[in-house]
Amino acid sequence: MKSRTIKPPAEVLYKKELMALQKYDKGAKPANWRLSPKAVRTFILGCDEPLEIDGEQVYITKKFYGDDTLIERCIVTLAGNRGLMLVGEPGTAKTMLSELLTAAICGTSTNTIQGTAGTVEDMIKYSWNYAMLLAKGPSREALVPSPIYIGMEKGIITRLEEITRCPSEVQDSLISILSDKVLNIPELGEDGVVFAESGFNVIATANIRDKGVNEMSSALKRRFNFETVFPIKDLSLEVEIIEKESKKLLNQSGIDIKIDRDAVEILASTFHELRNGVTVEGYRLDKPEAVMSTAEAVSVYFQSAMSAYYYDDGNMSMDRVVQNILGAVMKENRDDLNKIKNYFTLVVKQRSTKEGGLWKDYYSAKKWIK
Ligand SMILES: Nc1ncnc2c1ncn2[C@@H]1O[C@H](COP(=O)(O)OP(=O)(O)OP(=O)(O)O)[C@@H](O)[C@H]1O
Ligand SMILES: [Mg+2]
Repeated sequence: MKSRTIKPPAEVLYKKELMALQKYDKGAKPANWRLSPKAVRTFILGCDEPLEIDGEQVYITKKFYGDDTLIERCIVTLAGNRGLMLVGEPGTAKTMLSELLTAAICGTSTNTIQGTAGTVEDMIKYSWNYAMLLAKGPSREALVPSPIYIGMEKGIITRLEEITRCPSEVQDSLISILSDKVLNIPELGEDGVVFAESGFNVIATANIRDKGVNEMSSALKRRFNFETVFPIKDLSLEVEIIEKESKKLLNQSGIDIKIDRDAVEILASTFHELRNGVTVEGYRLDKPEAVMSTAEAVSVYFQSAMSAYYYDDGNMSMDRVVQNILGAVMKENRDDLNKIKNYFTLVVKQRSTKEGGLWKDYYSAKKWIK
């Protein structure tokens, strides 16, 4: 099989869509933006009519499902002078949104800092190439710019993933950059000032399960507009996402296998109902502590389809699905196993008699929950 990038960046994956949008874009653009806010919105939310480019019809696909006005607010924030902070439960597409926004606005989604407990101020500002520093002394050539530095210099957006995982003094080094849009490099003397070009901004993401958003300094909080990304409320939308994303992942792995819509529906119901602690009929359930996110459901389906492809002649089975659900759920707490067991005894059993079909197979796969 031909080798290929495991996960191409959004600007590569959707290159044609971006080119088509650029060609027909007549909307007003903030300085240094590749697309107008209207076209950025279309890129993320999709449109029904195809755009023609070089004799080819290009469809702009819908990439984010949920609150459309959230997308508009995010785009407008980025055109202003505050940063954008996307907060929410794990797996609610915060990273995906930040990649799509940067790919559409500045043509690159890879100017990124990944926040960790080990992030230091140098990674936010700049560091030095020591061999060059010794040879030439402090100079622009010896300086290694950070993604923030690059964003300021080129007038593009810098993504800061999981900002709350960074130590607070590192987070605070962003305050002056975000308010004054200036980065000082005292080592370079008079030349040591970088003024941000128009188009520079920051999109940060933070997970509310990892403690941290509350501890962020209020000075830093004021430099950002906060937007919360909520889990998907509508079950049929969740089915659609799991189907579409699994298809995409299988395609990228070179696996040719048909998506089993019934299996996707059962998987989506399980995740949806356990996450919300209530069934579609209105019965209360114990919520597991594990993150029952859409992203996790996608990964369960993808894993199960891979097993079907490699071990079971392409036949998707509910045994595989249940095995993978257990893997996803057992990350946090062993008590969660009982909650899954109860779900099978209370909900899946009833549906297997009432609806039959694949629900029956699903119920018989309960044997894996020990
Ligand atoms: N509302 C949604 N619209 C489209 N896809 C979604 C949505 N919610 C979740 N997904 C799917 O789930 C994946 C979410 O992954 P992503 O890494 O962006 O989440 P995250 O919020 O950054 O999670 P984390 O906090 O763990 O970093 C997406 O790639 C997409 O497949
Ligand atoms: Mg993320």
